Parts: sequence; structure tokens; C-alpha cells
Amino acid sequence: MTLEVDHSPRVETPLLQFVEVAKTFADGTRALAGVTFAVPRAQFCVLLGPSGSGKSTLLRCVNGLVEPDRGTVRFDGLRLERRSLPSIRRRVAMVHQHFNLVERLPVGTNILTGALARVPAWRAYLHWFPRELRDKACALALRVGLEPHHLRRRVSELSGGQQQRVGIARAFLCDPDLLLADEPVASLDPATARDILELLREAARERATTVLCSLHQPELAHRFADRVLGLRSGRIVFDGPPERLDEAALARIYGDGLAAARLELAA
Ligand SMILES: Nc1ncnc2c1ncn2[C@@H]1O[C@H](COP(=O)(O)OP(=O)(O)O)[C@@H](O)[C@H]1O
Ligand SMILES: [Mg+2]
Repeated sequence: MTLEVDHSPRVETPLLQFVEVAKTFADGTRALAGVTFAVPRAQFCVLLGPSGSGKSTLLRCVNGLVEPDRGTVRFDGLRLERRSLPSIRRRVAMVHQHFNLVERLPVGTNILTGALARVPAWRAYLHWFPRELRDKACALALRVGLEPHHLRRRVSELSGGQQQRVGIARAFLCDPDLLLADEPVASLDPATARDILELLREAARERATTVLCSLHQPELAHRFADRVLGLRSGRIVFDGPPERLDEAALARIYGDGLAAARLELAA
């Protein structure tokens, strides 16, 4: 008997796929005007666009916080809808601009809240997390550049940059396939912003985690992205590698705000 070997090239399913996704809010504001793109696994994809261009709305369509009124979102081939949302959410983590940590709780507990979807509520309420999760939280804290003595400190005692390190450790606790980051460095000074994006990119690379990260600074997109999606008025107006983010591309993304964007790129 001979075995038939299939030599046809396999097209890998993209981890995330948007097809003609549109969203108009109840007050008539159109945030997304038909957005189509696909993100392959392990890519660091940056959404670049001015304020109000639809970046947060797009990210929120992935974890079900915004329901599109047209189009399809697929995660690993699975159509995102009410029934599939819980299983998709378990594979997606989020990093926020304002960190979204529980300030009165210690750093270690904040990192452990990344497992809330997986630990029974009563155990989480008693701060009783399994040993292996606690060990993993400690290892992640060290990986993101925190020190052992930070683990017992309240989050409110840390600097902004350190708080975002906690946010990143929390996001990686359950080994997400996709990490969404909504302007994760917008509240940080430029040097800290670069450190944090470097950390996010390296941590994602080590785990082959796909990242969809919104930024409004072209300079940072240029430096850290594998690929840039430029968004303006809810439409994708640029899709390419950061090297192609030239004057013409910036003009398409920023329009009248181009002068400010150009200054930032030159800085
Ligand atoms: N819940 C909402 N209700 C009404 N309008 C909204 C809501 N969320 C966002 N918008 C509007 O949708 C547009 C896109 O917003 P957003 O996605 O937050 O953009 P970005 O993150 O790029 O700043 C903006 O005009 C914003 O004011
Ligand atoms: Mg936003």
C-alpha cells in the first residue's frame, strides 16, 4: 500500500480576521466604516491613527465589548458571536492605557487577577490561587523587570512604568494567543514608553503571542511594529511594513494633523 503525501501548500488560518466590520454608535457616530484585514500568528501589528479614528472601537470588537453592526470578526477561524465569545475571551488578554489595576491590592495579587476567568470566583475572592499560578506570577514579575520585594507592595506605590509592567505580567499569566494593547504607553514619558514597548515585543516574541497594539505616535510604530495598519475616520488607509510609513502614508493617516506627526517622527 502506498501512502499519499499531500504536497499542496497549506494556507494557515490567520489568528484574527476582520471582514467589512462596521460600527455606528447609537448617537449616530460612525466609528468603523467597513474594516477588512487579517493578522497572522506571532505578528506585532500596530494600529496607528489620530484620536477618534476608531482604534479603541476596533480592539473592543475583538473581545466583545463592542458589537459590530455589520461584518464578521473571526478568531482562529471561529466566528465571534455570543456563543463563541467565552471561549475566545479565554485566549485573549488586554493591556490598557491607564493600566486598569486594583490600586489597593498588592502587585502579586494584581498579576494573579489575570487568571480570574480560570479560577472559581470564591477562591479568587479569598485570594486563594493555586501554587503553580502563584509561582508563575512571581516568574512573570521578574521577567517584566519588577523585583521580588515589589510583589507585596500596593500598586499605588509604584511609578506609571512599573504599573504597566504589572499590567503586562497580568496579561501574559494565562498564555494568551492574542494580546490587545490599547495605547499602552500613552500615559508614560517617552523613554519609559520605549522601554515598555520593547518589553511587550520581546515577551510576545518569546511566546509567539500575536499582538494588536494601538498607538498614536508614528515614531513608536516605526520602531516596534512588524506591520502597521493606518486608521482614519474608521477606515484602513495604510497597510504595510513600518519602512513604508513615509510622508505620503502619514498624510493619508493624519490629514491636517500631519505636521505634528512629522515632527514626532523626526524627534
Ligand atoms: N460608546 C460610544 N458612543 C458614542 N460614540 C463613541 C463611543 N465610543 C467611541 N465613540 C466615537 O467613535 C469614534 C472612534 O472612537 P475610538 O474608537 O475611541 O477612537 P480612538 O481610539 O482612535 O481615539 C470617535 O468619534 C468617538 O467619539
Ligand atoms: Mg482610543
